[in-house]
Amino acid sequence: MAFDWAGTISGIEGLEPTRELWFHPCNKALYTRKLPFKPGMSLLDIGCGPGAFTRRVYEWFDGNINITGADLDEFFIDYCRETAQKHLLDIRYEVTDAVGLMFPENSFDMTVSYTVADHVDTVPFFSEQFRVLRPGGTIAVMYVDGFRASPGNMIDYIPQIEETAPLMKTIYTHMSAQPKMQDGIQYRKHRKPEPEYLRLLAECGFTDLRFDCIKLHHSPDCTADEKTARLIIDAWFSNDIDMARSTLRKPVPVPIRDAAVRLAALLEQCKQARVDLWEKGVKLWDSVETDTIILQGRK
Ligand SMILES: C[S@@+](CC[C@H](N)C(=O)[O-])C[C@H]1O[C@@H](n2cnc3c(N)ncnc32)[C@H](O)[C@@H]1O
Repeated sequence: MAFDWAGTISGIEGLEPTRELWFHPCNKALYTRKLPFKPGMSLLDIGCGPGAFTRRVYEWFDGNINITGADLDEFFIDYCRETAQKHLLDIRYEVTDAVGLMFPENSFDMTVSYTVADHVDTVPFFSEQFRVLRPGGTIAVMYVDGFRASPGNMIDYIPQIEETAPLMKTIYTHMSAQPKMQDGIQYRKHRKPEPEYLRLLAECGFTDLRFDCIKLHHSPDCTADEKTARLIIDAWFSNDIDMARSTLRKPVPVPIRDAAVRLAALLEQCKQARVDLWEKGVKLWDSVETDTIILQGRK
């Protein structure tokens, strides 16, 4: 059976709003200060998913970086190719395994991965990047260590939000009891503490090891730009809506299915109510906070 991350773990709807927010143009300097981007360089994004990072880096550098996105999920790669074609972005995308990359050795100046290291066998993952990097090239391993969607005063203004909590608990309790390894997917099986990742980077040959963190905090009430406010609201709800919808794609008992149907509908209503309140200028001070760890090493 095909490697189906989008169908079994999280799809485009679940990944894109948060990534569009985290790699938003207003956060560009945070990434460009911490990662050694250079015009003309070649960059490989491993486990690129629907490709938000590849497209954003392309825009940040006006297409002056040769970007390749790689993922084992064909559905994501098809989506990336179509999106790049639609927006006339010259980005290459390939279906390939992170632990058996199709690229020859010494091909790239930088390899990046965003929220992938948790799910891929660490030593082969790092070793493959060492092989495809040019001497002096950089590996950047990025992953989210904290995501908090704080409701602020939402409950006072959007009463349906209270009903979502027990439904989410019912579904998460059921889903967390199910096996996570299926069809080659190793969900969160390889997450390690930072010192252990750093030790393994050294073991795989990397030097000049660095540890960084990017902390992001966004509230729709802190922006006058409607597109950005909608993106923050989307990011607040998207993981849970995606979780409810992906539950419906699985063979689950009827009470779980009913809970997922109700939850998806309620969350959509809450999201619309939040947008309406933003448009009226009502401040709720809800926010999304993300801590992204960045580990780097040099070949
Ligand atoms: C949490 S998603 C992150 C996607 C993307 N980096 C982003 O932040 O939107 C993890 C990604 O890793 C990919 N992946 C997992 N195991 C992989 C493997 N062995 N080889 C290539 N890609 C893999 C999945 O298909 C998925 O797209």
